Amino acid sequence: MPYTDLLLHDMGAGLADGRPDFLAGGREWRTPPLWGIGPVDNVNGHTRFLHDGRARSIAEAILWHDGEGLAAREAFRNMSRAERAAALRFLESL
Ligand code: HEM
Repeated sequence: MPYTDLLLHDMGAGLADGRPDFLAGGREWRTPPLWGIGPVDNVNGHTRFLHDGRARSIAEAILWHDGEGLAAREAFRNMSRAERAAALRFLESL
């Protein structure tokens, strides 16, 4: 299970680059597969997420979600500290 729909989503103004790319508008990004996101540091020697590498951690990447991803961001923000830690542990296990 790759944990992505591989579809384009409008992620809001914060993540927009304003550059339409073929069929994707300037604020649409393809969901990357989250499978393998845990070992990304060991494998790639970095933890930079999102299309331009602006997020230094998985949590930061989630907090950039807007537009169609807003509900996911708010759910993450409204979790208790323990729930958030469990969610991040899960993502790091992928
Ligand atoms: C359980 C909820 C979610 C979690 C934990 C999550 C987590 C993440 C993470 C960690 C990334 C960065 C991946 C990378 O750079 O390799 C990412 C990117 C992305 N996510 Fe989510 N996400 C969630 C929900 C959603 C939803 C609901 C949507 C849209 C319908 C969405 C759309 C995207 C897109 C388009 C990107 C790429 C954005 C870019 O490159 O700037 N995500 N997500």
